[in-house]
Amino acid sequence: MPPYAFFNKRFMPLAEAKIGILTHALHYGTACFEGIRGNWDSEQERFCLFRVQDHYKRMLNNGCRILKISLPYSVSELCQFTTTLVVKSGYTEDIYIRPLAYKSSEALGVRLHNLEDDFFIVATTLPPYLDTDKGIRCCTSSWRRVDDTMIPARGKICGSYVNSSLAKTEAWEHGFAEAILLTQEGHVSEGSGENIFLIINGNLVTPSSFDNILMGITRDTIIKLAKNELGIDTIERAVDRSELYLADECFFTGTAAHIAPIIEVDHRPVGAGEIGKITTELQRLFKSVTLGRNPKYSDWYTLVSPKSDKT
Ligand SMILES: Cc1ncc(COP(=O)(O)O)c(C=O)c1O
Repeated sequence: MPPYAFFNKRFMPLAEAKIGILTHALHYGTACFEGIRGNWDSEQERFCLFRVQDHYKRMLNNGCRILKISLPYSVSELCQFTTTLVVKSGYTEDIYIRPLAYKSSEALGVRLHNLEDDFFIVATTLPPYLDTDKGIRCCTSSWRRVDDTMIPARGKICGSYVNSSLAKTEAWEHGFAEAILLTQEGHVSEGSGENIFLIINGNLVTPSSFDNILMGITRDTIIKLAKNELGIDTIERAVDRSELYLADECFFTGTAAHIAPIIEVDHRPVGAGEIGKITTELQRLFKSVTLGRNPKYSDWYTLVSPKSDKT
């Protein structure tokens, strides 16, 4: 089965979905995207598309509004395209779905106005993003997180991923799995593609919306699971760099990264230098919820059987 795309308002093999080299978004980063997980449940033989409505709400309400992109689709239409694409693609393994809304005019000139908009979705497989089993070693980045007054982090805006890429590659070149970016003021913001949590004295602590983070859907999932299932509160506040060194446990959250335990920061072990108890418990809860197996959270699930009508 070749990968499929929804492109130019129809479904087609990915190999046929092409854009011109003058496309505005390619030159100026004037696009925004989402990453959605389709988790394959081999026992039930179905996908759980996790919080797909929330992803499209974030794309339309945040990224598209900031970039003045207007799409002729509602959230429910976008969800329907996604479900159809998953069925057409014919995968029976975990998949990653990438919708992208972009300034599609083939026109040069730095601006957001007087340009056409377009949209595509592609479904693909994604190798493990970070090591969620053993935990990862991280560094604080020499790059600072791009500020809300520069490119707002509230949308997943393509151009701002240059900031993330600079930090990620610097970390990788220094032998670390991931970078932790600080704000201009020196507070902890987030990873290159993940939110970050610390466990301090039995509470979860995470940077607030004012520290230039993407308001992650996995972040929100963890805050709710920790409260509902473990009775653990989350404190959203400014976090100092040195708190990373003193935390009992630490982990990243993200659609691509899942819950990735951080066992070392800047050559200092986090806690005992191994995956902590609360992190392990949250990983277990998260896995069952994202497979669509916990009826309490059924609002978060779109269950798709690949045997559905392939029209
Ligand atoms: C910069 C950044 N922060 C955080 C996240 C985590 O967000 P979510 O949990 O919605 O995937 C992502 C990934 O989408 C990201 O790119």
